[in-house]
Amino acid sequence: MNMKAVVLAGGSGTRLRPLTDMTPKHLLPVGGKPIIEYGLQAIAALGIVDVAVVVGTETREPLRAHLGSGSRWGVRISYVFQEEPRGIAHALLCAADFAGRDPMILYLGDNLLGEPLSGLVQSFFRNAASAAIAVKEVPDARAFGVAVLDTEGHVRQLVEKPAQPPSNLAVIGAYVFRPEVFEASRSIQPSGRGEYEITDAIQALIDAGKTVVPHRVAGWWKDTGTPADLLHAQQLVMEGLETEITGALDADTTHQGSIRVEREAFVHRSALLGPVQVGAGAWVEGARLGPHVSLGAEAQIKRAVLENCIVLPGVTIEDEQLSDVIVGPGMRVSGARR
Ligand code: TTP
Repeated sequence: MNMKAVVLAGGSGTRLRPLTDMTPKHLLPVGGKPIIEYGLQAIAALGIVDVAVVVGTETREPLRAHLGSGSRWGVRISYVFQEEPRGIAHALLCAADFAGRDPMILYLGDNLLGEPLSGLVQSFFRNAASAAIAVKEVPDARAFGVAVLDTEGHVRQLVEKPAQPPSNLAVIGAYVFRPEVFEASRSIQPSGRGEYEITDAIQALIDAGKTVVPHRVAGWWKDTGTPADLLHAQQLVMEGLETEITGALDADTTHQGSIRVEREAFVHRSALLGPVQVGAGAWVEGARLGPHVSLGAEAQIKRAVLENCIVLPGVTIEDEQLSDVIVGPGMRVSGARR
């Protein structure tokens, strides 16, 4: 048996427009690293080698160009094309030939998890389950798929976005399945929003008498659907930032907390209040950055104050004060002539 992984990176990312017109959601950086790389690393950390990345019309080329063969993460990526975003169960079905007879992790490529995937996989094998689903206790589950458990602690029912949640267990973006999930996915009809929902496919497994177990995620979890989600995700991942300075800081620059300054970046007469990440080749001069600021490669930041910002590559910011913003690739923001 060879465990595989299917990472979903199709979809349209409508809630992140216009950012996603330029960069697919999965390649937007948080803490200086594209979102999808966190998931790939978590999968690679389990020793899984065969990974299918499901891509759509808009994401196909940029994802292929960025991820390539996957060798950078020690995995072997197969690209699976989903013509239209017709739902998560549909996207998974596109990878049926790839999965063959092996069990697989299904990972939503825009989700970030603050803990390894090993607990989820253990729950799956220990219970000889048909499926294991990651769940997270949330104070208000109305916006999520919600899991209801039976007396044995197995999943009895899944309810999509209930007005009155029957439990506080939100279903999050990581699952383990046996190939019987494909038959279940073929048996369902599109939902009210016209999508083949993974919750319906899982419910079909339960209704067929299969064992579906929950795995409670203790650490943080973030679904990066909106700009506010991206900024919050960055705060969470940057709490684990380790100081590493391969670029240069001049003697007039002060810093505290964890900072990462990549190669060929230069920080001149500035103050860095970590966590702060300065991308390769960036130029920072007379600025105050942080906390929770990441600068993409080749950014030019002069006489600016930034707090809680994601700055994509090639951006210029001059004489400006910004907080809680995402600056798209190649943008020029200047407050000088106001
Ligand atoms: P969603 O966030 O539900 O959808 P989306 O990415 O299209 O975004 P929006 O709602 O803003 O338009 O998708 C969750 C993940 O699953 C994401 O990584 C994209 C992926 N996905 C597919 O690969 N195929 C699909 O048909 C759908 C619906 C999602």
